[in-house]
Amino acid sequence: MANIDIRRVTKSYGKDEVIHGVDLTVNNGEFVVILGPSGCGKSTLLRMIAGLEDISGGEISIAGTVVNDLEPRQRGCAMVFQNYALYPHMTVAENIGYALKVAGMKKPERLDKVRAVAKSVGLEEFMDRKPGQLSGGQRQRVAMARAIIREPKVFLFDEPLSNLDAKLRVQMRHEIRRIHNRIKATSVFVTHDQHEGMTLADRMVIMNKGTIDQVGTPEEVYNRPATVYVAGFIGSPAMNFLSGQISAEQGAILLADDSRIEISGAQARTHVGALVQLGLRPEDMTLCAPGAGHLTGTFDFYEELGSAGLYHLMIEDVPFTVLSSAKPRFQHGDPVGVLADLSKLHVFRAQDGVRIDMDASVTRQMEPAE
Ligand SMILES: Nc1ncnc2c1ncn2[C@@H]1O[C@H](COP(=O)(O)OP(=O)(O)OP(=O)(O)O)[C@@H](O)[C@H]1O
Ligand SMILES: [Mg+2]
Repeated sequence: MANIDIRRVTKSYGKDEVIHGVDLTVNNGEFVVILGPSGCGKSTLLRMIAGLEDISGGEISIAGTVVNDLEPRQRGCAMVFQNYALYPHMTVAENIGYALKVAGMKKPERLDKVRAVAKSVGLEEFMDRKPGQLSGGQRQRVAMARAIIREPKVFLFDEPLSNLDAKLRVQMRHEIRRIHNRIKATSVFVTHDQHEGMTLADRMVIMNKGTIDQVGTPEEVYNRPATVYVAGFIGSPAMNFLSGQISAEQGAILLADDSRIEISGAQARTHVGALVQLGLRPEDMTLCAPGAGHLTGTFDFYEELGSAGLYHLMIEDVPFTVLSSAKPRFQHGDPVGVLADLSKLHVFRAQDGVRIDMDASVTRQMEPAE
């Protein structure tokens, strides 16, 4: 059993605090992905788990043991980095078996293990090659095999796929998930690629400037983002936002262009007067005749995405996108109506970006703008 418990962990470099009291539990055998933009503290958090960075405050436990003062090698973690340094003069088999050789394992036993692990990552044919004779993806697999063979309790990955081309990245991501399903080591995987995160994770951790905004399954994070930051970060093409205010009259939200959404949930009454951000994903709306939908904008330009088209509109002065597989044609400047699926409406307090849950079942239609 190797769960990881992170309690109120902080990290400062000199006077700069870059991790601000983070709490997170990674369950035994779970695959957790830490996602966030550059500089938000993903690598720092991972390196503190591995023991490659000191912890400035708080506590990290692995399998119930506080590891704050343990050396990296005493923690039972294997790390796979973006720049996996393989030994260039050793063959694939020697690279994979090196840790076991150092640990004093006898050759026949070692070779059996190397063969088994190489097979599990599809490297059997390449055992006698040197790293210089391998593709990027094959080298990546050697790095994985080298980590797997140590039978770590915990796997830590820091953007291990970012050096690969798009196709290999996808292949390796599937490979990593397959390997995880088989060996079930507790895994923490850092990336800034949301597709990679969504497809690999049992649960995702969304980081924002040294804090955690949300922890949840990919579906939870996508369907019920906890903050406006998570809402804007997860989802591609990105969610649209409009400003509004919850008015005193029985929970209506007034938009800048005087259209309104009527809601009657208890949440609406407790937030009367609150300034809000309304979020709508491009895929949760359709285009219609001007005035026939909930919103009216003007057509700006079109982006072809293959299976669908992305329509860039301006609503008041706000850029707004709608995804449509019907692909209607418009001229720049044409008025266009937008019909929204209001059960997919997201509402956030403008003040701090925190989600307000509206009861979707009582959300009534937005009145079209006059
Ligand atoms: N050795 C250091 N000294 C001072 N500041 C540091 C040091 N290492 C990292 N930082 C700062 O800590 C913050 C978090 O860095 P970190 O490397 O964890 O970001 P990240 O989320 O992994 O970003 P990226 O996606 O670019 O790898 C950044 O603001 C960075 O400048
Ligand atoms: Mg990093």
